[in-house]
Amino acid sequence: MYADFISIYDLTSEELQELLDLADELKRKFRAKEEHHRLSGKTLGMVFEKPSLRTRVTFETGMYHLGGHAVFIQTTLGERETVPDIARNLDRWVDGIVARTHSHEAMLELASYSSVPVINALTDRLHPCQVLGDAQTIREHKGQLEGLKVVFVGDGNNVFASWANLATRFAFDLTLVCPQGYELKGEVHERAIKEAKGVYKVCHNPEEGVPGADVVYTDVWVSMGQEVETAKRKEAFGPYQVDRRLMELAGDQALFMHCLPAHREEEVTHEVIEGEQSVVFDQAENRLHAQKAVLVKLMG
Ligand code: CP
Ligand code: NVA
Repeated sequence: MYADFISIYDLTSEELQELLDLADELKRKFRAKEEHHRLSGKTLGMVFEKPSLRTRVTFETGMYHLGGHAVFIQTTLGERETVPDIARNLDRWVDGIVARTHSHEAMLELASYSSVPVINALTDRLHPCQVLGDAQTIREHKGQLEGLKVVFVGDGNNVFASWANLATRFAFDLTLVCPQGYELKGEVHERAIKEAKGVYKVCHNPEEGVPGADVVYTDVWVSMGQEVETAKRKEAFGPYQVDRRLMELAGDQALFMHCLPAHREEEVTHEVIEGEQSVVFDQAENRLHAQKAVLVKLMG
């Protein structure tokens, strides 16, 4: 059993498959209003340095559904107390910690000092919980992820990095279509090149990358913490907006996905995000079920 969930790499392909099956089971139970108190009496500490709608509400609500309790802590790590001290206080009281931090290093430090499982709810580098809910959503709409072509149009950011991690676990093709200079870099990219089970590639031309896509995915051009780069990024990403023309390159069987929050008329047009191919609210819903599966696996 894995101890923390910091990255998709913490799980094998088999464990991920099991987790997604459990997410489906928990979703069925929730919809059927069947009690599923798998974490009764357990408490989750939630340490957030950045804003959140989906992640916060789904973890808190998820703990309630599972018969447990969540405590939300909005803080700036290291300001009032060091990360090691926060970890060694929290782990005396709670059974698991969910954290959203600016720096990935702070997440790793929290996990290394905590004796209870730590779950990554987004860092500047990764967003593994997001892609779990996304994988569940794709399975629902397309039957399976294996054999599909996922095209991420936009920034090689934390969400894309978790997609690159996932590509080393399931056999699907993953393409990043981005402006020059906004590719995913470093170890996550290198590892995807070496270990991806399908075709993994980066290109700069939507006309080259998008045809044949089963999923067209995008995210904001300016992630939390990058606000000073807003003007520069808006200019670079302008030609990469997901609009009707770009969705037509993919075809009408393609899903449109976005982790949300979205900036309409920036990375995606209002027409596409509100259109028939868009599954963005299914993705948001499945954050609840996928994360409940993570909580059960780690804290059950
Ligand atoms: N997609 C996502 O993580 O949303 P929040 O930032 O609202 O949690
Ligand atoms: N890439 C975005 C995702 C938000 C859920 C960010 O980090 O702000």
